[in-house]
Amino acid sequence: MNRPTSDFAAIAAARADYPALERWTYLDVAGRCVLSRATRATLDECLDGHMLNGADKKACFAMIERTRGRFGELIGAASADEIAYAKNVSDAINMVATAWDWRKGDNVLLCPALEHPNNVYPWLNMRRHGLEVRSIAPREGHVPVDEMIERMDAGTRMAAVSTVTFSPGFRTEVARLGRACRERDVLLLVDAAQSVGVLHTDVRESLVDALAVSTQKGLLGLYGMGFLYCRREWAERLKPAYLARFGVDLGAADSHEASMGDEEYRLMPGARRFDLGNYNYSAAAAAETSMSEIMRLGTSNIEAYVCGLARALAQGFLDLGLPVSGGAPGPHLAHIVTVGKMSDNHYGTGEDLYNRLYAHLEANRVKLSIRRGMLRFSLHLYNNADDVARVLELTREFLGRHSGGADARR
Ligand SMILES: Cc1ncc(COP(=O)(O)O)c(C=O)c1O
Repeated sequence: MNRPTSDFAAIAAARADYPALERWTYLDVAGRCVLSRATRATLDECLDGHMLNGADKKACFAMIERTRGRFGELIGAASADEIAYAKNVSDAINMVATAWDWRKGDNVLLCPALEHPNNVYPWLNMRRHGLEVRSIAPREGHVPVDEMIERMDAGTRMAAVSTVTFSPGFRTEVARLGRACRERDVLLLVDAAQSVGVLHTDVRESLVDALAVSTQKGLLGLYGMGFLYCRREWAERLKPAYLARFGVDLGAADSHEASMGDEEYRLMPGARRFDLGNYNYSAAAAAETSMSEIMRLGTSNIEAYVCGLARALAQGFLDLGLPVSGGAPGPHLAHIVTVGKMSDNHYGTGEDLYNRLYAHLEANRVKLSIRRGMLRFSLHLYNNADDVARVLELTREFLGRHSGGADARR
């Protein structure tokens, strides 16, 4: 298998800052990340400050703006004004879904069978305002972008897709969809829960209008914290369903958080109009540290490194005769490798052999998950070739003892 080359030396060295890797073969970033010592130190500093002195609000606001800017930079936003704070992915998606004045005859396109429920319910909820949720069926585990484009019509206002599905974990052809949406003035919203931080993201290049992400996976931060990117032109056509002080523009001269302006107010420019009141300062500080580390290592570099490991893992499973979703590693593969047959079960696979393989890996301190009836392995910058080799060796040894040969599993 491909070992990291010297291009990846800095990434390989970063592993030492993630103590969980000394205890686990951790292949579950699609569930949640493990924190680095540096991120933990930032949190300690934040909490100590709060415990000993009370929060320093001025410093908090300065950090909030730095973190907003850093996230914007990470995903290629044109300006920090295009970034709003959110609690999680569904919060960010709901911000967009509820900010459009839906009319009867409007429709949104999505592939509910492959989306996370948190990118489905926000749209179903808008049916009470007349929205038609136009469902596209998946094609062999993929979001069929060509069909999505064909199904657009004069009533289509938005399209919502995951950049990478949570299971089977395939990439969506976002840029192609983005082009079609831009030509038709359709807002393209991407659920980037499974890509930002691991895969290089450039919202301008891929013609994304809105992007929702949380920080506990690829961004290497905490739960309960996320971001919404909304392209300025679109954000300024949207009216937030919730409004509070930070979404209102009182001008630079009066920026105190407790200031109340006229009852006739102006919304903040860009996506800032979606900000509400006080922020999750500790989680934002943690995200500032973890995103700085991601940017230091380079997003394209991280993507190449991590996807190289995923390809080796997928090929290794295939060589052992396991049914890897999508078959041979190809352009669909990112950093998530799934094994088994897709179903609706998130508690087990449909096959006893794979349930026992899961238990065997877990007993040997491999962290993975089961989603949609499949074993899901997901990698990030703190993983290395030894992790991949270890999982393959444990699997080989298990199959040698428990199965009737590779052919029985195909
Ligand atoms: C694609 C995708 N969207 C959304 C979520 C979760 O949404 P939220 O951040 O609202 O909990 C997940 C997983 O947790 C996911 O994999």
